[in-house]
Amino acid sequence: MAQEQTFVMVKPDGVQRGLIGEILARFERKGLKLVAAKLVQVSQELAEAHYAEHRERPFFPELVRFITSAPVFAMILEGENAIAVVRGMMGKTNPAEAQPGTIRGDLALTIGMNVVHGSDSPESAKREMELWFPEGALSYERSLDAWLA
Ligand code: RTP
Ligand code: MG
Repeated sequence: MAQEQTFVMVKPDGVQRGLIGEILARFERKGLKLVAAKLVQVSQELAEAHYAEHRERPFFPELVRFITSAPVFAMILEGENAIAVVRGMMGKTNPAEAQPGTIRGDLALTIGMNVVHGSDSPESAKREMELWFPEGALSYERSLDAWLA
């Protein structure tokens, strides 16, 4: 059983539309465990570091401007195959192409404001968790785990 941790955030559009609870509830209901969470007003430096892989893309300035425009809700989720599971639940990058039933498919309309981010690989997850949560995540047991193991 591959237990993984992944970095997930509700982007500024999701926070401002009051969708933190809706999005977190979907991950919780799926069975993923919340091991770190905070609201963050993202600095220019953090935004550029987080999206460094897109530095040369034409949409980079707009992406940084958007992610710094209002608070985001940053979290670490843990569970079996958490990285791929979260990506699947998010749906395609462009909400117009995201399937109904996915977060972007149900809650977003345009590619520039697609409400949620999730790490796309184990390497990205490690890098992003260290960047956003240098203090680390919590470790705790849930009593249900004994029944579900
Ligand atoms: P994210 O990193 O935010 O979880 O999204 P993603 O992996 O699905 O997509 P990625 O390729 O990493 O792109 C990062 C964000 O940049 C914006 N984008 N705009 N205008 C465009 O063509 C374009 N392409 C990407 C999106 O907001 C995307 O989430
Ligand atoms: Mg990405």
